[in-house]
Amino acid sequence: MSPEQARPVRLANLHKRFGGFVALENLSLDIEAGEFLTFLGPSGCGKTTTLKIVAGLLTQESGEIYFGERRIDTLPPSRRNIGLVFQNYALFPHMTVRENIAFGLRMRRWPAARQAERVEEMLALVRLQGMGNRKPEQLSGGQQQRVAVARALAFSPDLVLLDEPLSNLDAKLREEVRLDLRNIQRQSHQTTVFVTHDQIEALVMSDRIVLMNSGRIEQIGSPQMLYDEPATEFAARFVGANNLVPARLEVVNGEAAARTGSDVHVRLNTVVPGLADGADIWMCVRPENIHIITGEGSSDGSGATVLDMIFQGTTVLVDLESDGLGSLRAEVPARHVAGIAAGQRVGLTFAAAHAVPRS
Ligand SMILES: Nc1ncnc2c1ncn2[C@@H]1O[C@H](COP(=O)(O)OP(=O)(O)OP(=O)(O)O)[C@@H](O)[C@H]1O
Ligand SMILES: [Mg+2]
Repeated sequence: MSPEQARPVRLANLHKRFGGFVALENLSLDIEAGEFLTFLGPSGCGKTTTLKIVAGLLTQESGEIYFGERRIDTLPPSRRNIGLVFQNYALFPHMTVRENIAFGLRMRRWPAARQAERVEEMLALVRLQGMGNRKPEQLSGGQQQRVAVARALAFSPDLVLLDEPLSNLDAKLREEVRLDLRNIQRQSHQTTVFVTHDQIEALVMSDRIVLMNSGRIEQIGSPQMLYDEPATEFAARFVGANNLVPARLEVVNGEAAARTGSDVHVRLNTVVPGLADGADIWMCVRPENIHIITGEGSSDGSGATVLDMIFQGTTVLVDLESDGLGSLRAEVPARHVAGIAAGQRVGLTFAAAHAVPRS
């Protein structure tokens, strides 16, 4: 698909109940043409429900769905022109890879020559050239998942929906296929909605992330935005590791700072818009933004005692009991931990701190 062919998608006020339980609460969202958008959120927050409604496998109580100017939620599933990939790739076991990929083309009565050409294109796109005559059982999990993706993309759908397509793969393969999928999408320019509850996956793959919580959108933004400037306590806790310390916002001459109950004062780099002087906040500090000072100069920052150190390969997690900020976790490059040990007194400085509202 060329970038000009991709169409934007609009979800307008989607509302879904299961009995008395509200699964989606007036969810509205604009997806840009050619965008890779990820729904991220805890189990049960409504990710699959949203995808099923868009695909026409579930019916909403109210709300509308548009592809470009065209309303599509009134159409039956088969006429919505959506490519679907679910967790259990569900390839047709009796068909070859080639036949699986051609399936949607056959249904849409593409001429045989164009089908054959398109299948070769898709095999190249998912790096499975030469495997077209194999049966699914003769492929690895990652290869099968790539066939499922090729099948979903082959007929140039207006929208591709991927619901946790990587969750059956082991950790190493998952990382590989994750990058494959990202590159395939960048090449194919197809508007894509990807679902995961794995925040790393969301950060790696997405143009934008929609963070969901209990049937509502908590925050929408680029991966960097969600990571650096979470808008709520939920976002701050859900996306990436974070230290949250209760504090009060102080704004002096446009400079924002957090003051904790024990009177520790930390400069804030970013603050959720709308927070005013005196507001109750959570000061959020990422583990990698806590710098540990030992020896000379260790009394400059705020003080802490090292409780434990957890080796992770490239980095070491350092659990600290700070004077005035409670328990904190720092993440230090392994080559910088020489001289830090459990039981030791150290100084701390904060390379970046952010504030979200605290209710
Ligand atoms: N058919 C149904 N009947 C009743 N409740 C349902 C039905 N389908 C889903 N739910 C409920 O709606 C909520 C949202 O479910 P959904 O499958 O959308 O979650 P999800 O975000 O995809 O979670 P997961 O990450 O576990 O896949 C859940 O609380 C679920 O129990
Ligand atoms: Mg789900």
